[in-house]
Amino acid sequence: MASQSSTLVIGSTGLVGSFILSTLLSRSSSSSSPSASSSSSGSSPVYTISRRPPKPAGANLTTILDPDLTSWPSKLTSISPAPTTVYSALGTTRAAAGGIQNQWKVDHDANVELAKAAKSAGVKNFVFISSAGTRGVLAGRAPYSQMKNGVEDTITSLGFEGAAIILKPGFILGQREQVRWAEEKGQGVVRALGRWVGLGWQDNFGQEAEVIARAAVKAGRMAEEGKVPGGKKVWVIEGGEIVKLGRDEWKDRPLLAGTPSGPVPPFPLRMSGPVIAGFGRGSKELGIPTANIPVDTSSPSSASSTPDQWLNSTPSGVYFGYASLKLPADHPDRNISNSSSSKWEVYPMVMSIGYNPFYKNTVRSAEVHILRRFSADFYGSQMRLLITGYIREEKDYEGLDALIRDIEFDCEVARRSLEREGWRAEKVDAGGWLLQEEEDDGEGEGNGKGNIEGGKL
Ligand SMILES: Cc1cc2nc3c(=O)[nH]c(=O)nc-3n(C[C@H](O)[C@H](O)[C@H](O)COP(=O)(O)O)c2cc1C
Repeated sequence: MASQSSTLVIGSTGLVGSFILSTLLSRSSSSSSPSASSSSSGSSPVYTISRRPPKPAGANLTTILDPDLTSWPSKLTSISPAPTTVYSALGTTRAAAGGIQNQWKVDHDANVELAKAAKSAGVKNFVFISSAGTRGVLAGRAPYSQMKNGVEDTITSLGFEGAAIILKPGFILGQREQVRWAEEKGQGVVRALGRWVGLGWQDNFGQEAEVIARAAVKAGRMAEEGKVPGGKKVWVIEGGEIVKLGRDEWKDRPLLAGTPSGPVPPFPLRMSGPVIAGFGRGSKELGIPTANIPVDTSSPSSASSTPDQWLNSTPSGVYFGYASLKLPADHPDRNISNSSSSKWEVYPMVMSIGYNPFYKNTVRSAEVHILRRFSADFYGSQMRLLITGYIREEKDYEGLDALIRDIEFDCEVARRSLEREGWRAEKVDAGGWLLQEEEDDGEGEGNGKGNIEGGKL
């Protein structure tokens, strides 16, 4: 499994680089666990070197901050063990750099030195985000092309043990942090033309930044698995191939679930109960630990709830929302100060309700994957779930890898969906149930059963 590999992202605060980072974080980690021993098996270390902290976050992310670009190569070689794959989307614009010479230092010199450092450190694969159209007779003379070509030539000649991968996308669409007027115009034109002449045209000239990032990560993964087409040591990826790797290969699943403004009825739904052991496959086989919560469909577990109705009328499937945990006082991940009024901590989560068709379970289960990593288990702790929305139906799969890929994608959908304003925990849990010290009716927690309530908030 790719979990043994580690990666470094350079340029992680830029448009494509930040997508590369979030893609890597969503595919390699988002581990949560009631079973700490195996939580590490699902998480591959991801490093960044940057001037400012990158936006995407993850428990397996180590950020190295250094304002001095020229010291980044030594920072790279000090990472131990050396990353398996380095992604560089490092680049700036002439205007932002304050002239072509300064841009050259970033786009060319820094990339060249980093590639050399990577090779000397034993990095196996180097993925470089370059640019389309730098090799034409005329274009090749432009300073911008020369910068990119210089880096490409260096990477090609270094002879990486795995592969040197060069992506040459056209326009990069998306919202840059710094909105640049000219580029905005360019994007508008590309989008408009794309709509007008059909997506095929747009695919070739203006791949979305996210598609580029996914293509880069997909290509990097293929190199790690020894699956570069034709066993090439230098793999140049352009136009339609970027789209194929970055869009088609990722199945076209939407990255967001639910309406933009927030949950709609019957959501949010509530469940609560103690964390119990499942079959233990989540940690061992999937590298995606799950905290199970009792699903008692046989009898209502509190006077006010009607689990039969709730659960029977709720389709099996994958859901997302928030989990709050009351960890024991000596738990290493407890982040509560003694003075805190609530002993509950809230985390984003993704969960499945159903029979796990891949494993052909005969009983219905509710399994929660909390989107943060724990260093010790928390079986027996009380857990509350605020289920805010539905992602997809449960499926059977040809193999374990496909199940893992889909769950990792679910994690990304949950994370992104919950980041939206109307989905924040404070908004969807306006009554503060997740943090409330005790249940209103005092029932349902600590009795070994699960509680399920629907449409009551
Ligand atoms: C977000 C998420 C999505 C899941 N989707 C599926 C699915 O589509 N099909 C399936 O058979 N199991 C699915 N599962 C369930 C896993 O197979 C299950 O967590 C795993 O078997 C571990 O169960 P265990 O802890 O009882 O061993 C999903 C689990 C999670 C957390």
